[in-house]
Amino acid sequence: MIEKCNISFYFQHGASISIEKNGKYYTFEIERLVKQRYFSLLSVSKDEAIKIIADSLKIMKSHYGIGETFDVCAFPGHTLRVQFKTLVLIEEIKKLVHAKKYVLLDHHLSHAACSAYQSPYTKGTVISFDGAGNDGRFNIYKFDGLIEHIKRLEVPSFGKCYRQISFILEDIKKDQGGKIKPMVGYAGKLMGLVAYGKIRKEWIEGFTHFYKTGSLNELKSATGLEHVNEEEFKANPFCKQYSGQLAYDLAATNQFVFEKEFFKLVESYVDNDPIIISGGCGLNVLLNEEIRKKYGNKVFVPPNVDDSGISLGQLFLVNVPNEQIDVTYCGAPILDLNEFDSLASDYEVTDLDLNEVSFLLKQGNIFGVIRGNSEVGPRALGNRSMICDPSFPGMKDKLNKIKNREWFRPFAPVVRFEDRNKYFEFDYESRFMSFSPKVRIEYREKYPSITHVDGTARIQTVKKEQNSFLYELLGSMNILLNTSFNVNGNPMITTVKDALDILTTTSLDFLIVQDKLIKKSKNT
Ligand SMILES: [Fe+2]
Repeated sequence: MIEKCNISFYFQHGASISIEKNGKYYTFEIERLVKQRYFSLLSVSKDEAIKIIADSLKIMKSHYGIGETFDVCAFPGHTLRVQFKTLVLIEEIKKLVHAKKYVLLDHHLSHAACSAYQSPYTKGTVISFDGAGNDGRFNIYKFDGLIEHIKRLEVPSFGKCYRQISFILEDIKKDQGGKIKPMVGYAGKLMGLVAYGKIRKEWIEGFTHFYKTGSLNELKSATGLEHVNEEEFKANPFCKQYSGQLAYDLAATNQFVFEKEFFKLVESYVDNDPIIISGGCGLNVLLNEEIRKKYGNKVFVPPNVDDSGISLGQLFLVNVPNEQIDVTYCGAPILDLNEFDSLASDYEVTDLDLNEVSFLLKQGNIFGVIRGNSEVGPRALGNRSMICDPSFPGMKDKLNKIKNREWFRPFAPVVRFEDRNKYFEFDYESRFMSFSPKVRIEYREKYPSITHVDGTARIQTVKKEQNSFLYELLGSMNILLNTSFNVNGNPMITTVKDALDILTTTSLDFLIVQDKLIKKSKNT
């Protein structure tokens, strides 16, 4: 059989390299290697970027067995703003990666492909919206095996508008270790504050103009907040930090209008076909939940709905799949697994026994889990997770301390697929944490650590074939709190060494590496 192998690159925030080899997919999020969340290859020098790419390819070659030459090599389409840097990088990569054909693919089209071919549907309406791409900010497509562009909506960037509010709220941590983190992650934090606020009727018109024009000056006149204006924001996006109820009300009103304007825009394009969401705004689980409720249980949002899925979407466009593709655990391997014995030599290591894990979870212990290839994107979990029993009231604070996370952000539950409707007002599948249904009233007090202040939870459902480790454990636990295995806002870990460091330096209690259970060192 002639071996077919295609490769695909994405450079900006959420930079990644994906490979398709004989119908199998692998995606390597570069943030895992450089340990900088939302890493962009365009944020470093050309030489540095090429070194990182060469290192990533070396890892991919040794773990995935890919060769030196490829059939097609795909690159991202680019805006004028980043054209120069992108073209320089492309020319350098062509020296490293030999392919029969090189192609450039549009941003939103790639978002749309990434979502459509992972969805369980054979047809649907694809809605793609984000900060911005080379082909706009808000696009509608029809999916029917192939993807047909229907309309580019000329509206301000919904992603940018939403995110801007997060810059001016004090509760959202913006400076960690003295370094300003890329701002793309702030929108997710802002979403956690929404439940603490009230929608202020008198601000709605101003926020509506904001989403129609993209100008913060509309908000200034509506809210009377003099520092919310274009001039000050351009000079310093963190010009003023609002706190308390006022800040929470800003978050709530922003969310309300974001949703209202979304529905107004898409109304005429939605028919009886399922809805497939793509683009970074698809990380907004509050909006996704409203879409699900309004249009029924026919909505799909992939785990890598943001730019982390672009390189994969480009691959789907290069060689169009003819069936649903599951890439949930096609991410980075454990990079230093072959050094496990020496790395863990100072620790007490035993074979994994799920009954023992279950017993220890019920004592209130928190486990770090690193098994197999990583999940892709920010909305899948299970192979790089921290798990614990959510029935302990203090668990949220303990985890927030370990992860150095904001107090108001909710933690997600994972539940067996067949139990979803017992604990949650939810009769649908949520393989990724893309929706936020209510926890049933009778379970809210019983599971305080996964119940957000408004009674909702970012549910993940699991079937045995999806993740047998989690599924088996849930047989005795019913619900587990499941959060990403990372600390201090860093990317998810991808080495045994980093997992052991977290076990040693934080209040994490146990570590599971593949099929081994590791206890804290006697010296810690
Ligand atoms: Fe995007």
